[in-house]
Amino acid sequence: MQAPVRIAVTGAAGNISYALLFRIAAGDLLGGEQPVILQLLEIPPAMEALRGVVMELEDCAFPLLAGITTSDDAGAAFADADYALLVGSKPRGPGMERGDLLKDNGAIFSGQGRALNDHAARSVKVLVVGNPANTNAFIAAANAPDLDRSQFSAMMRLDHNRATAHLAQKLGIHHADIRKMAVWGNHSATQYPDISHALAKGERARDMVESQWLEEHFIPAIQQRGAAVIKARGASSAASAAAAAIDQMRDWALGTPPDDWISMAVCSDGSYDIEPGLFYSFPVTCDGGRYHIVRDLDISDFSRRRMRITERELQEEREAVKGLVQVVQS
Ligand code: NAD
Ligand code: LMR
Repeated sequence: MQAPVRIAVTGAAGNISYALLFRIAAGDLLGGEQPVILQLLEIPPAMEALRGVVMELEDCAFPLLAGITTSDDAGAAFADADYALLVGSKPRGPGMERGDLLKDNGAIFSGQGRALNDHAARSVKVLVVGNPANTNAFIAAANAPDLDRSQFSAMMRLDHNRATAHLAQKLGIHHADIRKMAVWGNHSATQYPDISHALAKGERARDMVESQWLEEHFIPAIQQRGAAVIKARGASSAASAAAAAIDQMRDWALGTPPDDWISMAVCSDGSYDIEPGLFYSFPVTCDGGRYHIVRDLDISDFSRRRMRITERELQEEREAVKGLVQVVQS
């Protein structure tokens, strides 16, 4: 057996974590040979509920679960963490946009960025799930000057999986037969799900669908899927979000499949003329624990316009949280 790795999860008594922790402990994140220690963070009012979650984890007797710690102190929860999944934060309710959460949630990520900086393993990989995820990742990374920005990402895999599933349904094929979906930009209603490069059973998917379906159905449906789930369920997506968090972190850590890529919000290096420093979703491949933005894709005018709209929204969100990143910039 390999030595255990430390996985910190915040918001550990919340809805997403209730679907996430058991899968991590079962080996779905890092594989069936890798023992894990779960380091769980909650706020004081949720510590009793977290105690119940821990009881259930214990009662599963997972062979790969090598230990559990709980804390309401971010420094303790992130101590020597190899992976950190930052879930803990408020979800939106009906009628809200994810950006409306910035005021409530942004401050959480400045403090947790500092705690990661001071306590996590130097090679830690951080996945931000809490909304608005891209700008929260920006805040966390900006408050962790000793870590590289490439150690932070925000979750876009749910959007990527949604887009893949939706296209497969339209074409009447299995979603495993779709490759090279791309979702650009912000995890918000401005995101741009892009099928320009997608392959369906190896053939160009774009040639198989009408422009009207793409513009009037597919793009808005993916942009609004989170709101549609909230409307139907009365609560924001949880099991699908947990599955996407596992998919994104697993592929980042262990590598993307050959001949495919994933969508992941990472610190822009200026690729595709997107402002450097924004946490923007690009198609990426991963190997050896690193991601690489896919280069040199042809971008149509149609795509370019949509990529700019979502970039502008991220610039506006960054302006709105200036106060939370001054700590390291001054
Ligand atoms: P939830 O309310 O069920 O759980 C959130 C948990 O976080 C609660 O237990 C709460 O006590 C805890 N928490 C709050 N502040 C904290 C802090 N400072 N430190 C540690 N824990 C803290 O919410 P949920 O349904 O699990 O959703 C969590 C977040 O994930 C929300 O912001 C939601 O919008 C977001 N989300 C993102 C995506 C995505 O694709 N990026 C998908 C689904 C949900
Ligand atoms: C989602 O996309 O399902 C989540 O971000 C929750 C939300 O607020 O839409």
